[in-house]
Amino acid sequence: MVGFSNSVIKEVDELFSRYPVKVHALLPLLHLAQRVNDGWLPSGWDAYVADLCDTTVNHVRGVITFYNMFHTKPVGRHHIMVCTCLPCGLCDGDKLLTHLEERLGLHPGQTSADGLFSLEEAQCLAACDKAPLMMVNDKLHENLTLEQVDNWIEQARKKK
Ligand code: FES
Repeated sequence: MVGFSNSVIKEVDELFSRYPVKVHALLPLLHLAQRVNDGWLPSGWDAYVADLCDTTVNHVRGVITFYNMFHTKPVGRHHIMVCTCLPCGLCDGDKLLTHLEERLGLHPGQTSADGLFSLEEAQCLAACDKAPLMMVNDKLHENLTLEQVDNWIEQARKKK
């Protein structure tokens, strides 16, 4: 079903109260919409959010497709983004991505059969000085060693 529940609408109202016009709350509203939809934006939520913000669907779609933190397809419970841009590439960002591909049996754009992990090769995650790094949902894991990555995967599987 498309639309925030009554309990979440209170959060929406609180968000709107922080801005002079509703459309300025678009980014946090989209994050909120993803949060209530298991990390992605199903069909219809773009129009719903546009209506809430008094803006157009095309505006909302433009924002959703511009930022790589918004997803229009289901993602894993742990959505892993790895930056392989030049600064991170020089600090083994590529090796980190290859390691995750091997350990998870996934290529970028894929989700594990159990829905636990999805993998994405990302553009700059705004933490270039902390490479190699990965962002899992909204949390950055910085200055990673491959051993730390293995430990993180093991812990994530245990919490399943
Ligand atoms: S280039 Fe990788 S985080 Fe900026």
